[in-house]
Amino acid sequence: MLIVANWKAYVETMEKAKRLLSVAKRLSMAGHHEIVIAPSAPHLGYLAGGNRTSVEFAAQDVSQTLGGAATGEVTAGLLADLGVSYVIVGHSERRAAGETDAIVLEKTRHALAHGLIPILCIGERERDAEAAYITHLRTQLSSVLSVLSQKERMRMVIAYEPIWAIGKSAAESITSADLTEMVLYIRKILGEFLPGKGNLKVRILYGGSVESANARTLAASSGIDGFLIGHASVDAASFGAIAKAVS
Ligand code: PGA
Repeated sequence: MLIVANWKAYVETMEKAKRLLSVAKRLSMAGHHEIVIAPSAPHLGYLAGGNRTSVEFAAQDVSQTLGGAATGEVTAGLLADLGVSYVIVGHSERRAAGETDAIVLEKTRHALAHGLIPILCIGERERDAEAAYITHLRTQLSSVLSVLSQKERMRMVIAYEPIWAIGKSAAESITSADLTEMVLYIRKILGEFLPGKGNLKVRILYGGSVESANARTLAASSGIDGFLIGHASVDAASFGAIAKAVS
């Protein structure tokens, strides 16, 4: 499993960041999963610089610009130089701040051009009876995938994160039956862009209130390749319990 810890802005002290990193290192050394930590930008700079551990790092976002006169931006080149492996693009919390599909595409392309692996977040705000959310997911995926080369498509990680399930509890998260259906649907779209076995190289993660109580059930038969975990990833005990639950 690929387990990505999205710390969001939950971790505000270096002391806590270091403590969570040491838990992640232990889990990673146990060897069951690929563990990726996505700290805030300042902590990322501190923790990822000179990283010699089996834990990998992700940025929570990347700049749309390529550098130069762009105050406050963190570019793909800067992240690549730090030794960061992944970058989350199109998280719903960034989209809520005005990020469009076109911006997500640009960020994805910058990440790929610098050798970073984009974790493209897609997800519907709500489930309507007419299933318009299905069309919404297709648009989010195809606005990025249609522009990429076959090789680039195969480097993508897709994180399916229904907005209605984010930041709640395991009991309010997606059911395993619904997740199975969504993964099949996402695979079908991926198959249109990557016919044959190529689409199997693209890993599909699930995110949205993954906790120790639902991780095992969600992972069991849904076809997902891992999780993108928010609030439960900044609680050392919960994060450890999730990793154990899906071992
Ligand atoms: P959550 O967040 O686990 O707190 O629901 C997931 C995410 O937004 O990536």
